Amino acid sequence: MNSQRYIKNTYDKFAKDYHIKREDKVKGFWNEFIENPALLDLSKQHLKNKSILELGCGSGMFIKKILKYKPKMITGYDLSEGLLKIAREKYPEIKFYQGSADKTPFGKNQFDTVISGLTLHYIKNLIPVFIEVKRILKKNGFFIFTIHHPMMEITEKFQKTDTEYLLKSYNHNNDYKWKMMDGMELISYHHTFEYLINGLIKSGFVLEEIKETYPTKNSKKINPIDFEKASKYPFFLAIKAKKS
Ligand SMILES: C[S@@+](CC[C@H](N)C(=O)[O-])C[C@H]1O[C@@H](n2cnc3c(N)ncnc32)[C@H](O)[C@@H]1O
Repeated sequence: MNSQRYIKNTYDKFAKDYHIKREDKVKGFWNEFIENPALLDLSKQHLKNKSILELGCGSGMFIKKILKYKPKMITGYDLSEGLLKIAREKYPEIKFYQGSADKTPFGKNQFDTVISGLTLHYIKNLIPVFIEVKRILKKNGFFIFTIHHPMMEITEKFQKTDTEYLLKSYNHNNDYKWKMMDGMELISYHHTFEYLINGLIKSGFVLEEIKETYPTKNSKKINPIDFEKASKYPFFLAIKAKKS
């Protein structure tokens, strides 16, 4: 089975459980208090009255946050039919489409802003995705995404403590397996900073801002252990790029 099919099947199979986890502030701590705030911080000034695409929208958990900023229109796109079914039930007024991020059904220059949360690490070759996003974005439109941080993708847990890590080799684009939840194993691909930044530039983007994530202050009381880990290490990387 190719990895895209495996990822689709896995998200389809665990769609309900994944959605329940995302809705739970304790179990969904890493999204809610670490990744989502960085994604929102980079995107919030590009939402009002804008036409937005969420690439890898899953069950629509980030849509609630986008809606607060009064966009003109939101469109959702994801590989998993199982997650899209949940998103459609939650937001019947929003149009959702199924497919892979490297080939979308959207028109040229259709969106003001494309947002993508924790989706791109599932794709080995990101250049076709960058080129596709550039095609569907309007001129001066923004592409804002989060991804597993390149350094954290190559860490191996020290055996003695939970908050110290060993670094494995960095210069490659290999896959790695990780556990989202009990029984839900996923495959992702390591991308170096050089690959991400030069890939965006060569695909016609100008880099605007990056963020390495920190937990929000109010999250310490929710999960003090993960708060400490995420304060010491940048688990996710957020990038804002502009179509030139
Ligand atoms: C960790 S989830 C994040 C979902 C959503 N952004 C959220 O915050 O809840 C990753 C999502 O990426 C989607 N995905 C994985 N590979 C994809 C691809 N090639 N094209 C589009 N979506 C993909 C999965 O189906 C899943 O919904």
